[in-house]
Amino acid sequence: MEKAGLEEVQVRGKKVLVRVDFNVPMNDNQQITNDTRIKSALPTIRHLMAQGAKTILVSHLGRPKGKVNPKYSLAPVAVRLGELLGKEVYMAKDCIGSQVEADIDRLADGGVLLLENVRFYEEEEKNNPEFAAKLAALADVYVNDAFGTAHRAHASTEGVCKYLPSYAGFLMKKEIDVMGQALENPDRPFTAIIGGAKVSDKISVIENLLTKVDILIIGGGMANTFLKAQGLEMGKSLVEEDKIELAGNIIQKSKSSGVELLLPVDVVVSKEFKADSPSQVVNVSSIKADDLALDIGPQSAALFAEKIISSQTVIWNGPMGVFEMDQFSKGTEKIAQAMAQCQGTTIVGGGDSVAAVEKMGVATNLTHISTGGGASLEFLEGKVLPGVAALRDK
Ligand code: 3PG
Repeated sequence: MEKAGLEEVQVRGKKVLVRVDFNVPMNDNQQITNDTRIKSALPTIRHLMAQGAKTILVSHLGRPKGKVNPKYSLAPVAVRLGELLGKEVYMAKDCIGSQVEADIDRLADGGVLLLENVRFYEEEEKNNPEFAAKLAALADVYVNDAFGTAHRAHASTEGVCKYLPSYAGFLMKKEIDVMGQALENPDRPFTAIIGGAKVSDKISVIENLLTKVDILIIGGGMANTFLKAQGLEMGKSLVEEDKIELAGNIIQKSKSSGVELLLPVDVVVSKEFKADSPSQVVNVSSIKADDLALDIGPQSAALFAEKIISSQTVIWNGPMGVFEMDQFSKGTEKIAQAMAQCQGTTIVGGGDSVAAVEKMGVATNLTHISTGGGASLEFLEGKVLPGVAALRDK
């Protein structure tokens, strides 16, 4: 069911509580190291400002476990957001209570206030109804633009919807529309490329995608378990022994359902898990007992790239190797380039693959980069996200 969006609500002069996902990475000096999530929320915030709403932003940052901890204060985010908007963003000292109410009363139409980290209260993650009601009491309307947190049934994402008319923000809409369209009605051929270290993290994603895609590409550490299931020697490489049978079943299932499954044909191996240890490219049938496979090889990268470029819809989640180490990053980089060359719909989700497209400077060539890590994975698994389900239907 399609969700009601911002265009369906009059907000002039109204107090609008907006759940955003400002859970951005910061260094030890509390400097923001990547502001993508803040920038992604700008269309919704600018719309509300232009419409003359009083915008009250609520978010979490990190996992302070229900305790006030200055390390997790959202104050640096208010400063960055103010720079991006070219207008002061007021920072509240709390997220509920009389002081916050006074801050809101002082807010002019078109003004923006950022509440302090909602996870300073343990009631947030417990989805406590009284706490949700207190958040709701701050506003007349609720907007959820926090796709990245939509897989959490928390007070500020789910509970609050019971007390206020609730709408999807522009970012939330874009995330669910682009990924939903790809899963439900893709232009074909539809290819999914799944990487990352472990099969166990992505079993449900792979199983759901197997029922949707034409081509499934598996790379990264998780490919080792699939190669082992085909009887290959993987040396000291990461293999999930208890998932070998499952990997074998997935290989069988892809055959019986007519999905073309591609695994690496060559890999970059090293004797040690170190950035500077000597490495070489070997065929997957020539991995030695003391080898560690740490990236896909150039032949695999070329094969995967060719499939990606000739597809009409591509979803990518997870790196092809240990891409933090330069000499094992080539496979992931090649995939990022191929995504940028593809003329069809291209969607990237998951922190590491997003970092790869940003590093390669190709982010603007893609159709959609999801702001969700866990949330986009659960979406690809076909799960209903509680933060989305709770919103008003169109
Ligand atoms: C994320 O970064 O994936 C979201 O902000 C959710 O954070 P969480 O995993 O701490 O709930």
